[in-house]
Amino acid sequence: MKLTNITHAYDSQPVLQGVDLEVKPGECIGIIGPSGSGKSTLLQILGLLKQPDAGRIELEGKDLLIADEEERRLLRLNEIGFVFQQAHLVPYLTVREQLELVQADSDSKQDPLRLLDVLGLSHRLNQLPQFLSGGERQRVAVARALVNRPRLILADEPTASLDFENGRRVMELLAAEARNHNRRVIVITHDERMLDVCDRVLLLQDGKLQPSPRH
Ligand SMILES: Nc1ncnc2c1ncn2[C@@H]1O[C@H](COP(=O)(O)OP(=O)(O)OP(=O)(O)O)[C@@H](O)[C@H]1O
Ligand SMILES: [Mg+2]
Repeated sequence: MKLTNITHAYDSQPVLQGVDLEVKPGECIGIIGPSGSGKSTLLQILGLLKQPDAGRIELEGKDLLIADEEERRLLRLNEIGFVFQQAHLVPYLTVREQLELVQADSDSKQDPLRLLDVLGLSHRLNQLPQFLSGGERQRVAVARALVNRPRLILADEPTASLDFENGRRVMELLAAEARNHNRRVIVITHDERMLDVCDRVLLLQDGKLQPSPRH
């Protein structure tokens, strides 16, 4: 996957000003940057949830920005797992049902119960989101993004409401998807202690992405 010269502005206020990024299968990439620097915007563009003003996004030689909407929809459905900054669970479905809802009929999917167990949620399977803590909700959202084993996993601060131990579990799970299953993983985080599982750490600043000088 390759992004070239991606730009985006909100109300003519530039946010992304020529972002380049190449991600290979098997790579886990961390993205850091000040609040408001455009990290979530970039992730939404990568997830085909938002069209940038200009630039190219190539996946296996195909330009996804000029692909038709049906093709983009199928990619979002089948190839991309997204963990939003807020969990966005369905209010009237239990933990277990949140995963069953999105489960595709594919051979490569993960066992949802095992996944929830790895994330320490086995005792919450039949609970509705309103009775979960913020960190539990966030872990359900992580499990939901991984259950179909998508080729591209995008996570926007997935450890923000987690304690250190649970944060590590989530980061190690994401990194393992990349390493053991040859997936592409991109994680935004504010938590420096979570970055050592990443293969590379990039800094988004002044509308550009560059290797972080501190990592
Ligand atoms: N839909 C929108 N309309 C107008 N401006 C927006 C919109 N979404 C984001 N912005 C602005 O664009 C800039 C980048 O926002 P973005 O959410 O991408 O930043 P971020 O790096 O994810 O920040 P944070 O670390 O706080 O989550 C901010 O100044 C924000 O106010
Ligand atoms: Mg954000």
